[in-house]
Amino acid sequence: RIVYVNGTYLPEAEATVSVFDRGFLMADGVYEVTSVLDGKLIDFDGHAARLTRSLAELDMTPPMARDELLAVHRELVARNAITDGMIYLQITRGNPGDRSFTFPDPETTPCTVVMFTQSKPGLADDPAAKAGIRVISIPDQRWGRRDIKTVQLLYPSMGKMAALAAGVDDAWFVEDGKVTEGTSNNAYIVKNRKIITRELSSDILHGITRAAVLRFAAEAQMEVEERSFTIDEAKGADEAFITSASAFVTPVVEVDGAAVGDGKPGQVATRLREIYLEESR
Ligand code: PDD
Repeated sequence: RIVYVNGTYLPEAEATVSVFDRGFLMADGVYEVTSVLDGKLIDFDGHAARLTRSLAELDMTPPMARDELLAVHRELVARNAITDGMIYLQITRGNPGDRSFTFPDPETTPCTVVMFTQSKPGLADDPAAKAGIRVISIPDQRWGRRDIKTVQLLYPSMGKMAALAAGVDDAWFVEDGKVTEGTSNNAYIVKNRKIITRELSSDILHGITRAAVLRFAAEAQMEVEERSFTIDEAKGADEAFITSASAFVTPVVEVDGAAVGDGKPGQVATRLREIYLEESR
């Protein structure tokens, strides 16, 4: 693989970042994941806009403008001959040359920018995603600024491991009795044909796929209500699903051991997946 590090394209084996990098020592950095289908970037502008916001919320200086970012994404797709897959982008507060709790001066310590590709042939036709996934619920013990897409992914990783240990696919986080989101996706239920998903706040990541899917749902005259819901409501729902840049729209067929609806992917989720993939490609 050819990866990108601070302005240079090089083979992954030659790519290095300092041991003093604040991304490594402090999880002081943000990231984005953008899908590629048929060589085309999906929702690039949404991801670029959210990146700008994440950086601003952390007082980090954007290392490059949107057009330059797009050029690097395209260059990596070309150099790695990616048809279907993902581009991962990470920007950290750089290498101040020592460990310290204070932020370094951005004039003397530039951000570290890393980008790489992950090839996933047939990404949009993943049979597991079409068949639906099973989730368990676990307490949301992440920090309170989940609207910033930081690289602090230890708790979500623990959630994913807990799900796999329980023999299911993923976990939904619950806080104050309500579902916040999945380990790496936004969560939805459907009741009486109404799509219900938590309202935007600092409790959840403002999903780029979420924004697109809610727009397509509205255009297709589907009813949408943005509010939080409980695990009991999810168990009694007609359908459930998740969205993310890598999962697109993926039905959820079981929550904490209870079948959702008839235990098969629902009509609304299946239709939204088709619309999203058609409209975004
Ligand atoms: N995760 N919520 C969380 C906690 C996420 O990590 C993600 C994305 C989403 C969905 O956002 P979007 O639709 O913009 O991808 C919601 C990415 C895909 C990841 O960490 O791999």
